[in-house]
Amino acid sequence: MKITFCFLCSFLLATTSLAEELEFGKDLHDNNCTACHNKPEFYTHKDRKRKTYESLEHQVRNCDNTLDLAWFDEEIEDVTYYLNVTYYRFQKPGKN
Ligand code: HEC
Repeated sequence: MKITFCFLCSFLLATTSLAEELEFGKDLHDNNCTACHNKPEFYTHKDRKRKTYESLEHQVRNCDNTLDLAWFDEEIEDVTYYLNVTYYRFQKPGKN
């Protein structure tokens, strides 16, 4: 029974839709990150430093470390995905 449940669990996790990732990333961001970045301009102004998807993800990880949130990789990825779709619009290797 337990095994069946876990199998179902991982199946559900694996099929999380992009829309759900986006929603999840937005919630995480809005709950944890807006103390310092509460304006879209922070991510869109022309002198922003991140120029690639990788460097964006790297900075999300940096801020996560600074805040001691200890996010899982999935959470880092979902927030990066959210910021990218909403503001940065970098080419993402793999999925879009
Ligand atoms: C305590 C304040 C603080 C909080 C809270 C914070 N950050 Fe940051 N963040 C900074 C500072 C300072 C910088 C500028 C550092 C730099 O660009 O090298 C920055 C830069 C960034 C950038 C790069 C912006 C650019 O120039 O393109 C991203 C993306 C980012 N943060 C994401 C996040 C995320 C995601 C969270 C929530 C986990 C978060 N930050 C929470 C302080 C904070």
